Amino acid sequence: TMVQVSLHCLCFLTLYLATGYSQERKFSGPLEPMTFSIFEGQEASQVIFQFKASPPAVNFKLTGETDGIFQIQPDGLLYHNKALDRETRAVHKLQVSALDAQGTVVEGPVPITIEVKDINDNRPTFLQKKYEGSVRQNSRPGKPFMYVNATDLDDPATPNGQLIYEIVIQLPKINNIMYFQVNNKTGAISLTLDGSRALDPSKNSNYNLVVSVKDMGGQNENSFSDSTSVDIVVKENIWKKPEPVEIFENSTDPHPIKITQVQWNEPGARYILVDKEKLPRFPFSIDQEGVIYVTQPLDREEKDSYVFYAVAKDEAGQPLSYPLEIRVKVKDVNDNPPTCPSAVTVFEVQENENIGSNIGTFIAHDKDEENTANSVLVYRIVDQVPALPKEGLFLVQTYSGVFQLAEQSLKKQDTPQYNLTVEVADKDFKTLCHVQIHVIDINDQIPIFEKSDYGNLTVAEDTVVGSTILTIQATDGDEPFTGSSKILYRITQGDSDGRLGVDTDPQTNAGYVIIKKPLDFETAAIHNIVFQGENPEPLVSGVNYNSSSCATFKLIVTDVNEVPEFSQRVYQAKVSEDVAVGTKVGNVTARDPENLDISYSLGDNRRGWLKINPVTGEISTVAPLDREAESVYRVQVVATEVGGSSLSSTAYFHLTLLDVNDNPPRLAKDDPGLFLCHPLQATGTVIFEATDDDQQSFRGPRFDFSLGSDMLQNTWEVSSINGTHAKLRTKHTDFEERVYNIPIRINDRGQPPLEGIVSLPVTFCKCVEGSCFRAAGRQSGMPTVGMAVGILLTTFLVIGIILAVVFIRIKKNEGKANVESAQASEAQPLKN
Ligand SMILES: *[C@@H]1O[C@H](CO)[C@@H](O)[C@H](O)[C@H]1NC(C)=O
Ligand SMILES: *[C@@H]1O[C@H](CO)[C@@H](O)[C@H](O)[C@H]1NC(C)=O
Ligand SMILES: *[C@@H]1O[C@H](CO)[C@@H](O)[C@H](O)[C@H]1NC(C)=O
Ligand SMILES: *[C@@H]1O[C@H](CO)[C@@H](O)[C@H](O)[C@H]1NC(C)=O
Ligand SMILES: *[C@@H]1O[C@H](CO)[C@@H](O)[C@H](O)[C@H]1NC(C)=O
Ligand SMILES: *[C@@H]1O[C@H](CO)[C@@H](O)[C@H](O)[C@H]1NC(C)=O
Ligand SMILES: *[C@@H]1O[C@H](CO)[C@@H](O)[C@H](O)[C@H]1NC(C)=O
Ligand SMILES: *[C@@H]1O[C@H](CO)[C@@H](O)[C@H](O)[C@H]1NC(C)=O
Repeated sequence: TMVQVSLHCLCFLTLYLATGYSQERKFSGPLEPMTFSIFEGQEASQVIFQFKASPPAVNFKLTGETDGIFQIQPDGLLYHNKALDRETRAVHKLQVSALDAQGTVVEGPVPITIEVKDINDNRPTFLQKKYEGSVRQNSRPGKPFMYVNATDLDDPATPNGQLIYEIVIQLPKINNIMYFQVNNKTGAISLTLDGSRALDPSKNSNYNLVVSVKDMGGQNENSFSDSTSVDIVVKENIWKKPEPVEIFENSTDPHPIKITQVQWNEPGARYILVDKEKLPRFPFSIDQEGVIYVTQPLDREEKDSYVFYAVAKDEAGQPLSYPLEIRVKVKDVNDNPPTCPSAVTVFEVQENENIGSNIGTFIAHDKDEENTANSVLVYRIVDQVPALPKEGLFLVQTYSGVFQLAEQSLKKQDTPQYNLTVEVADKDFKTLCHVQIHVIDINDQIPIFEKSDYGNLTVAEDTVVGSTILTIQATDGDEPFTGSSKILYRITQGDSDGRLGVDTDPQTNAGYVIIKKPLDFETAAIHNIVFQGENPEPLVSGVNYNSSSCATFKLIVTDVNEVPEFSQRVYQAKVSEDVAVGTKVGNVTARDPENLDISYSLGDNRRGWLKINPVTGEISTVAPLDREAESVYRVQVVATEVGGSSLSSTAYFHLTLLDVNDNPPRLAKDDPGLFLCHPLQATGTVIFEATDDDQQSFRGPRFDFSLGSDMLQNTWEVSSINGTHAKLRTKHTDFEERVYNIPIRINDRGQPPLEGIVSLPVTFCKCVEGSCFRAAGRQSGMPTVGMAVGILLTTFLVIGIILAVVFIRIKKNEGKANVESAQASEAQPLKN
């Protein structure tokens, strides 16, 4: 805001500068360069500034772009006498000079700048009262197709010159939907999304808009406005997907070949193709006219249709519109010959097939398009090998490939196999395929026995199971080694118990009659056997087995005195090893098939522990038993017929002896080789092990150890380590260099508990490097230390004798050289 002052009021004024900040400022001052901002259109005769003259200056002069508006009085008062107009001149460049009385410039000229500030004193005006434009159907929304343009003389840097465009009317307008939009700053007119979708020149091609423009950003109620009329013609969109294209495959024309075209609504678009199928090979291209080409021959058998997209882009690479779908169908040409289903197709035909019977269907293939002339196949037999008994035995139906017997039934005896050549043709190609026809024998012959009665056969009842007692033979005229000629012999009468069976020789069809279960004179002495010969394959209808397929024989079973039979092969019993003599431990029973009496006896009764009652078969003990000698006592039991031929048979009796604790514990080794070094430096300890011959629990034996004599209490001490091992410790160090035999008491924890007192030998000897070094008696032929040790350990008694000798010798040879001793006797290091 500027405070207005009158020319007559030359007091101090306060100026508020238009720069926005207020500053108290003198209304007068010395001559110096200054800039003033003054709104345009203000009342005339406004004081701008009072320059103060300083001597000798007495007068001022104003020059420059005064436009007759700015004046300065001789006393230095600068003012304008008319309203300013920014649109005429926005900045006035003035110069003020101070003059002396003679009119000579004494100061200046000094530049004084007057900036004319804008007020909204101009209306916006459209450059045209009426605009005309056109737009393509389906144009991209927001893409300008025309501009309206208004001008405003006011300062564009201020709201006064800032214009806002707006569509106020769209005609026609259906459902209140705007098809057009204007950029409120640039006046660019474009389609809305709705417009892009809905505009259709075939329905309505002419639209009229009224567009307004307002200054002051349209925000101020004092803004000015103008409006213009815009006529828009909607034109057809030529960016349309082309008709689907059909291309013949395997084309020999030079490629690329034009197949279709797309076109953007305006020139200058750039076209590309997009393959959304991600094909390994994409045989299409587009040029910058929008012409689409196929670049290489297509193969319908590889891919019979393509779908891809054409995109139009602007200079900046932005899509101008939606992509167009291009459809290409690959049309078939007959470029594939028919193929045979396999190298050789085999059909089988039975001997007795009737004329016209279907033998099989021969189907060849053609990769060309189905149900077209390119793949319709025609069949023809062109050759038959052999031509026996005549040509043309077979025919094939022209289109279906069904093979039939044409002339007569076939006989395998004549020709077992035919080789046919079949021509398969499509429109242009012919392929030769091979068909083999196998003639199959049918089961039209029955087995015929060489004779119908095999007579009488006498067999002892004890004949071994598995024995062959008779060979029978029938023959079958069908093809050998097939189910039609193989003969299975079935016994239809005389063997209800299934004691006999017949095995067929696969080569000769001979039948071996075999005993499958023992014969029994007592049950059946005479069997009238009837055999039936049959094929595994059923007979063809009209042929039946008759009596020639049957044979008979009479089996006469003779009686044999048979051995007694035990009820079991092995009898088992268990008894405690300490049972009293005479205890019954088991029984056996045998029966004679001829019902003779039986007498029992024992065999292999090595220890003589058992006896058997010859009449009852009861077995009892006759001596004490010892599990430790024999934990399972096995004897034979013999049953012998009383009278008759005294046949006998044998079974086994196994008597398991249950343990009783009847063995005292003992040392695990007779000589454990224990020693202590003499002279004893400190109390010494040896470890020994005990064992027991009785059966032990699975946790192993558990023994208790103690000294066997109270008199040794002051010399020795025994303590258990675990169930089997104990420690013997000396209580002082005063021992002689000899063997001490320490009585040790070992108790087991058996039932009943037993105690053993053992003598544990401990040797006190001179030690060399931790080994006991003692001389042994001279033994010829005993060069090695190890063998000597082995012998030493054989018996405690021997050791005792040897040690006695050693002691005597040591005493005698005291003081003599060790060399002599080593030569004379063997060194005996016992490893610790
Ligand atoms: C509008 O008209 C003015 C003056 O003719 C011109 O300077 C300006 O570029 C035009 N604006 C448009 C968007 O055409
Ligand atoms: C002009 O248009 C812009 C977006 O196109 C919008 O943000 C702005 O508010 C509009 N101004 C007026 C005054 O309508
Ligand atoms: C094209 O046709 C020729 C003969 O007509 C054929 O030999 C060739 O295999 C065909 N090519 C394809 C890809 O089908
Ligand atoms: C039919 O062909 C096969 C081989 O293809 C041959 O082994 C056989 O001997 C031929 N049969 C006749 C009757 O020619
Ligand atoms: C076979 O034995 C029966 C009696 O079982 C007898 O009548 C018949 O004569 C005998 N046949 C021959 C051939 O020995
Ligand atoms: C059984 O049939 C065959 C032919 O299948 C015939 O040769 C034979 O004579 C017939 N036998 C009887 C007993 O009828
Ligand atoms: C024979 O021993 C079995 C057990 O092995 C027993 O059941 C049966 O009674 C005994 N028979 C006689 C006659 O002792
Ligand atoms: C008992 O102790 C001896 C000596 O320590 C050892 O060798 C043996 O393995 C032990 N036996 C058991 C069953 O632990």
